[in-house]
This record gives sequence, C-alpha cells and structure tokens, in this order.
Amino acid sequence: MLFCLGGLVDMRRDWQRFQVAKLRLKPPSDGPMGSNGESSLLGGRFAAALRPLLKPKTCVMRMDIGFRRCLAALIVIAVVCDTGRAAQAQAPTAEDVAAGMRIYVQKADCQACHGWAGDGRKMDSQMPDGANLRESRLNRAATILAIKCGRPGRSMPAFDRLAYSDGRCYELKLADLQRTGRQLPDPAATLQPREIELVADFLFAKIMGKGPMDRAACVEYWGSDVDACRELDK
Ligand code: HEC
Repeated sequence: MLFCLGGLVDMRRDWQRFQVAKLRLKPPSDGPMGSNGESSLLGGRFAAALRPLLKPKTCVMRMDIGFRRCLAALIVIAVVCDTGRAAQAQAPTAEDVAAGMRIYVQKADCQACHGWAGDGRKMDSQMPDGANLRESRLNRAATILAIKCGRPGRSMPAFDRLAYSDGRCYELKLADLQRTGRQLPDPAATLQPREIELVADFLFAKIMGKGPMDRAACVEYWGSDVDACRELDK
C-alpha cells in the first residue's frame, strides 16, 4: 500500500519528467530523480522500463491507466480498512457485556419489569409489565432513546437524569408531561450515557433478537445451569 502510494506520486513525477525528457531526448535518470529514496527509484525504474517499449503517446495513456487503477485500489483499501476499524470500535468486549448486565440486573433494575431474560416475565409483581425485549425490533439508536427518555405515559422510566429538563427527549419538558397527564415511573437509578451504552451492548449481545430463552441460552446467559434454567425447556 505504501509502495503503491509512493509509486503513485513518483509515477506522476516521472511522467512529468518524461514529458520534459521527451523534449530533451535525454533519459530522465540523469535528473535529480534518484535523490528521492527507494520508492522513487522503483517508480523511476518502472517508468524507465516502459519508456523504450512504448511510443510516447501510448506510454502516456498506459501510465494514466496505471495511475487510475492504483488510485481505485487505494480507495478500496482505504474503505475496507476504515469499515474494519469502525466495526472493531463498536464490537463490545465480554467485560462491556458483563458490565451492562450488572446495570440491567442491579443498578437500573430493568429486570423488575422486563424479567432477567428480558422476555417480559417481570421479577416484581408490583411493577408494570415490561415489553418483551427479546422480540423487540428496535435498532441500537432507538433502544438507547427508549432507555434515556423512557416512554411517557407507558410505564417505561427515563434513565437520563436530564431527560425532561431541557427538551432533549422528544422536545418535551416536565411541564409538558404534566399538562398532558403523561407520567413516568421513577427509575431505580439514573444512568450516565456510557452506562446506557453498556446496557445496550448487553441487550444486543444477550437479549434482543435472540429469540425465546431456552435452557441452552439460559446456561450460556448465566454461565452455569442455575435454578432459573432448570424450569426451561431443553
Ligand atoms: C417500571 C418498569 C420498567 C422498568 C424498570 C424498565 N422498563 Fe423498559 N419498558 C417498560 C414498559 C412498560 C415498556 C413498554 C412501553 C411501551 O409500551 O411503549 C418498556 C419498553 C422498553 C423498551 C422498548 C421496547 C420496544 O421494542 O419498543 C426498551 C428498549 C426498554 N424498555 C429497555 C429497558 C431497560 C434497558 C431498562 C433498564 C435500564 C428498562 N427498560 C427498565 C417498563 C420498564
């Protein structure tokens, strides 16, 4: 890739020199070309090898095709590298997922309404029935929005401390909610944006889009065949 890049620059340079050389009818290696280091030398050799083989016009054409191909290859490589890095940056680690699970189970107590498996079989009979998150079709952004802002009037608490203070959630403030009679239950704790990301990491790794919880998934979820798994179908 570096060679390609160096070659590219040098091919351009060589091509310009070649044009000059054509006029002078002198090989361009007499010029200051060698002083540009290895890649220049390679590019120079490449151009020099082509020169006697081709008439000036075709050579210019071929060099141009080479230049475009090289550029296209570079763009493809750049795009592939970039997507790879982006995907890598997003992929949560096992620690992220475990941290998200702790927040789900303990700090935010999502399981009180959604159940430990996220299937809506709530852990606390006094709590509202949470949605079955295993069947949720929300993408990550919509999931994070639901956690931050909750669902006014629909028993899903908002976990962003400032959710209805400055219009960041659906452009609504507390007064708007009160006026329209839409309430939100208090969350067990508010969460930092980073904690909400971790909960989302956990949800997407273990719950959302994962189908119904069966015994195998349960053992995988808890790391061992705990009591909760024994009542599930094999
Ligand atoms: C007090 C009960 C309660 C708690 C606690 C709670 N939820 Fe909910 N949640 C609900 C209810 C009820 C809904 C359905 C709201 C609706 O009908 O739009 C819901 C909806 C959701 C949705 C949207 C699902 C969809 O497909 O539309 C997500 C995501 C969600 N909850 C995640 C969480 C997470 C994560 C936590 C913990 C940080 C949590 N909830 C805590 C009750 C709760």
